[in-house]
Amino acid sequence: MPNKTIFAASILSADFANLGHESQDILSAGADVIHFDVMDHHFVPNLTFGAHICTALRNYGITAEIDVHLMVTDPEKYIAPFAKAGANRLTFHPITVSDPITLCKKIHDTGMQAGLAYNPDKSIEISDELFSMIDMILIMSVFAGFGGQKFIPASLEKISTAKKLIDAHNPKILLGIDGGINLDNIAQVTKAGANFIVMGSALFDVDDYKKRIDELRNASHS
Ligand code: DX5
Ligand code: ZN
Repeated sequence: MPNKTIFAASILSADFANLGHESQDILSAGADVIHFDVMDHHFVPNLTFGAHICTALRNYGITAEIDVHLMVTDPEKYIAPFAKAGANRLTFHPITVSDPITLCKKIHDTGMQAGLAYNPDKSIEISDELFSMIDMILIMSVFAGFGGQKFIPASLEKISTAKKLIDAHNPKILLGIDGGINLDNIAQVTKAGANFIVMGSALFDVDDYKKRIDELRNASHS
């Protein structure tokens, strides 16, 4: 596991009319990664954005890692467009596919990393072969679909379970947590083992992004 806790800014909570500017601002304020939530109005009720907007961010000059979280019923169709758009990692919900190993292979073939996401009601079941194919496990601490939801406390135990699995298989796999992370619970999730912290509303619902990120960094070490 990397030593530094990675802060991934979910631009789902950014001002959509100014996505380039908002992404740049949050990165300048100290976020490490852009978390890009793709919702298809099918796997989840909400509808957001696709590869076109990822291209627009790259054209705007965003050079940071773009971490794509696919909340869609057919993740395979998104691989080629996002590879072309300059995304770095595609994380999908394994329940949406019959053969996650093949999907991970296809993602890796494009040069992107692959991740698996688990909603709060899904247990983490990963075969040894699949484990050898993944770069991230993303634990959802809210049900995928909307920003600004409340953190589900049972997620902490799930992080610990995933951490044990990761340590046993491949410590380089990132352990992500996504949903409802804020100043009050960030210490708990990092203590449980998460090292990739997705945050939307906690970052964007303030005027001073740098002050908020500094506060979160301090809280995450406490
Ligand atoms: C939820 C998304 C999250 C969400 C996080 O479906 O996957 O990435 O934007 O936002 P907050 O931090 O506001 O819960
Ligand atoms: Zn997400």
